[in-house]
Amino acid sequence: MNILKFDSEAKLNETAARIITSTVQVNPSAVLGLATGGTPIGIYKQLVQDYKEGLVSFKNVSTYNLDEYVGLSPDHHQSYSYYMNENLFKHVDVDASRTHIPSGLADNLDEECRQYDERIQAAGRVDIQLLGLGHNGHIGFNEPAEELSSSTHVVNLAAETKQANARFFTENEEVPGQAITMGVGTILKAKMLMLVVKGADKAEIVKRALTGPITTQCPASLLQTHPQLVVLVDEAAGSLLR
Ligand code: F6R
Repeated sequence: MNILKFDSEAKLNETAARIITSTVQVNPSAVLGLATGGTPIGIYKQLVQDYKEGLVSFKNVSTYNLDEYVGLSPDHHQSYSYYMNENLFKHVDVDASRTHIPSGLADNLDEECRQYDERIQAAGRVDIQLLGLGHNGHIGFNEPAEELSSSTHVVNLAAETKQANARFFTENEEVPGQAITMGVGTILKAKMLMLVVKGADKAEIVKRALTGPITTQCPASLLQTHPQLVVLVDEAAGSLLR
């Protein structure tokens, strides 16, 4: 595991984006695993800038997102499809037919999950998977539990996850109670994992995830088993790490 600590958010975002752009420069048809939430927004901004400066083209890449809320249509302002379009896809030359996000509107959600895993497998391994970290140690929407699912599945969101994500919704909108998420097994199959964590409120959980026992009660702790894990933290999130 490689831990990189940054004293400015701009430098962190720049480095994270450079790791992704260099993956695409080396392999223009790279398979990218993408995340949503507050953490990657600055990274996507930097990727858009890199694209506009001609440093990288996404023309031949394929993308697979970690998760999507159940019940939100792709044009709902809080769906992860909408988020990806607004923050990255519509600003770069990615081919829309090669971008993949599970559909939270599928009639048969279990079948949607099965097909999503099949699509990832057919694409070959994910070259680099971007991950954020939940306050309870979740990755994707794999919440702490006695047992974790390996493949893509439907999950009931923990109360604290709903509460944390309520900040993105308007006052009279309810945060969906369920999501489709890649499983931990699917995530761990990626060639390289890049975990990005920002803010003092994540200092405890990032320490637990990276230096504590490997346990399904802290799903991110399973990342310790991955041979190619790079962790980017700001000073605040990394304050309890040596
Ligand atoms: C998002 C995702 C989640 C978030 C995590 C942190 O696709 O899978 O695991 O990465 O909840 O969210 P933020 O970045 O909003 O603190």
